[in-house]
Amino acid sequence: MDRVLVLKSLIVFLSQLILIVSAQNGRCPPYSDCGVLGRIRFPFTTTEQQHCGILAIHGCQQLPPSSPKTIKLGTSTSTSYSVLRIESRTIFISDDEQERYLRNRNCKAFSKNVTLPHTSPLASFVNKYNITIFRCNHSLKPSLSKDFHKYSNCSEYDIFYGPPNILTPPGFQWPSSLASCSTIQLAVEGNSTDDPFQFVISTIGIEVQLSNECESCLDDEKERCLLDTEGKFYCATGI
Ligand SMILES: *[C@@H]1O[C@H](CO)[C@@H](O)[C@H](O)[C@H]1NC(C)=O
Ligand SMILES: *[C@@H]1O[C@H](CO)[C@@H](O)[C@H](O)[C@H]1NC(C)=O
Ligand SMILES: *[C@@H]1O[C@H](CO)[C@@H](O)[C@H](O)[C@H]1NC(C)=O
Ligand SMILES: *[C@@H]1O[C@H](CO)[C@@H](O)[C@H](O)[C@H]1NC(C)=O
Ligand SMILES: *[C@@H]1O[C@H](CO)[C@@H](O)[C@H](O)[C@H]1NC(C)=O
Repeated sequence: MDRVLVLKSLIVFLSQLILIVSAQNGRCPPYSDCGVLGRIRFPFTTTEQQHCGILAIHGCQQLPPSSPKTIKLGTSTSTSYSVLRIESRTIFISDDEQERYLRNRNCKAFSKNVTLPHTSPLASFVNKYNITIFRCNHSLKPSLSKDFHKYSNCSEYDIFYGPPNILTPPGFQWPSSLASCSTIQLAVEGNSTDDPFQFVISTIGIEVQLSNECESCLDDEKERCLLDTEGKFYCATGI
């Protein structure tokens, strides 16, 4: 081996060592390796280092690297979702139950809101690409603009919807004729069409929106914001 190679291996070895040692100290490394998801950083972490971030991914250290990575969004007893990818502060997960409903054109796909983690002093969570679906009594005959679509093949209700929320122009108001309907917000891809099974999807992009307090922590060159054992907010530095 030439010297450069030796030096390079030494550097790699040392940086791995720092990661391992800092993990064992209960300190938090600047990033963690998470198999096919690559390097994950704050606000994401691994379940082995749950205390180092806001959302913890399970299975990061499992081999092979392509083995499933999952996440629980609520309490520890809640459903596990597969993690598909991470882009900056957005995590894309797949809802397998919803996927089955959509594939079978089952109206149960319109029965529940996307589950999001609870807001904390550290962050709130947004289903970034969503559409608001109105579920209305079949007897309701609202007059709506051409931006609205109706789907009447569900037995319990008619559904109405406009464009996905990310495409609604500023100042957009929901029609008051839909006020008696119940609403749900679902994950969506592209623009809406007459067939809701075309654009409602089972891949949910959850964006972590850090609190102002946490953002100022990061601006201040601190590495992350965390809650202590009493649930109190603090800024944490790196190693
Ligand atoms: C739906 O999307 C809009 C636009 O991206 C966003 O402002 C809103 O918070 C989202 N709703 C939920 C429940 O995440
Ligand atoms: C739906 O409309 C019918 C007829 O107007 C009414 O009898 C019924 O109570 C309504 N159902 C709901 C759930 O509002
Ligand atoms: C989305 O579709 C609506 C009609 O359903 C159309 O009016 C609107 O221009 C489309 N928006 C985009 C950004 O393509
Ligand atoms: C509605 O249901 C009928 C009968 O099941 C089916 O033939 C039709 O294609 C459905 N329409 C839509 C828009 O899904
Ligand atoms: C879904 O979420 C919306 C907005 O957060 C809320 O108004 C609505 O009542 C919820 N619907 C159900 C069925 O939980």
